[in-house]
Amino acid sequence: MEKIIVCGGKPLHGTLRVQGSKNAALPILAACVLIRGVTVLENCPDLSDVRAAVAILRHLGCVAKREGHRLTVDSRCISCYTIPNELMREMRSSIVFLGSVLARTGNAVLCAPGGCEIGLRPIDLHLSALRALGAAIDDENGILRCHAKRLRGATVRLPIPSVGATENALLAAVTAKGDTLLCGAAREPEIDDLVLFLNACGARIARTGEGDLSVRGVQTLHGCRHRVIPDRIAALSVMAAVGAAGGNVLLENAAPAHLEAASQVLRRAGCRVEETGGSLTVAAEGRLRAVPSIETRPHPGFPTDGQAVLMAMLSTAKGKSRVTETIFENRFHHVDALRRMGANICLRGRCAIVEGVPTLYGAAVTARDLRAGAALIVAGLGAQGTTVIDGVRHIDRGYEKIEACFKTLGAQIERSADSGSEQPQSE
Ligand code: EPZ
Repeated sequence: MEKIIVCGGKPLHGTLRVQGSKNAALPILAACVLIRGVTVLENCPDLSDVRAAVAILRHLGCVAKREGHRLTVDSRCISCYTIPNELMREMRSSIVFLGSVLARTGNAVLCAPGGCEIGLRPIDLHLSALRALGAAIDDENGILRCHAKRLRGATVRLPIPSVGATENALLAAVTAKGDTLLCGAAREPEIDDLVLFLNACGARIARTGEGDLSVRGVQTLHGCRHRVIPDRIAALSVMAAVGAAGGNVLLENAAPAHLEAASQVLRRAGCRVEETGGSLTVAAEGRLRAVPSIETRPHPGFPTDGQAVLMAMLSTAKGKSRVTETIFENRFHHVDALRRMGANICLRGRCAIVEGVPTLYGAAVTARDLRAGAALIVAGLGAQGTTVIDGVRHIDRGYEKIEACFKTLGAQIERSADSGSEQPQSE
């Protein structure tokens, strides 16, 4: 199995262009099912989760072609409404195909999705939103059979601002008959990018309040050309690495407005974070200071996806930080590995108390989910000695050639050759 090997302790310097956003690209790919035409996505990251979405599109009858970061999807001929279990289980975002397949074909047959094991991650809100829009959904031994001759607009209230349920409801509502009001919707930048994309394809969606989206149903959507937004979590991972290892990095194409809460936390820890147009400069020198209290929150709060890399950075900050995870029940997979590297972290339910130590030490550790894996790289870059990270396939779900990015910044980091036991996925 592939491993990432990091020789830590070298400050990071240079310029890096931030990859396109995984969590924006995935629902946009699911939205392609609605389109009776050709879509061109620019800045589409080349990641295993994106390859899994493309595999679903091809299974449904689309023709997809990648040239660098441009992905062209021709979805004129959708011939199928069943998604096989093995494709559903590749990632969590496969569930967002439910809304678009149902809206396009009148049917959908699929099972529960896979994805990072960071909590229970039920899909009840997805299903209740689709039922409110007129879908009949039967669960037969874990297989969901869904039907709606034509979905119809309705008022849909989400009790929590679930990102995936918001996406599914939007995809189902854009071509439904009549108007939909989606109350309590998520406000993540990736939702705004999906709305921008759908409107460019002929949808009529407007944000009518902070968490409210109104949708006027249209008959059909046409193709468009769209540029996927920068990945705010990939950017934050590099920022945390600079905090941990020191240095000065210019992040181009970073969408600073999407990173405001994160930038504020890094500044409180002693990093210098400056915005210039669409770029961000992050610099750090010497030991950071602890941040007494941080809670993950839906956007515009501090993102749960950045909690692990932040904790890796705070492991060596002077003083006691308290990090509370409010979104997922089980998102502290990185803590054991950080402790192996010398971190002093105590878990109390959803709260982690991080007593900063002067330094971490390289160790052999395993990435157990995507962001936990990124956190181990951040920790390894700041640590003394060599860190060997297993479970690289989790990291590859969301980061494009992560070792090459950090290498550009002067890090000593390599990917060890694959001995052949992990099969790479192909688009
Ligand atoms: C999206 O997941 C992201 N994934 C996650 O990023 C991210 O952590 C999460 O939003 C929160 O920001 C993608 O965009 C592909 P949710 P999603 O529905 O949509 C509960 C990463 O690292 N819930 O907003 O699955 C749920 O259990 C990934 O890139 C229900 O109870 O997240 C959780 O506690 C990991 N019932 C909370 O809502 C439901 O039907 C928020 O989940 C749906 C969700």
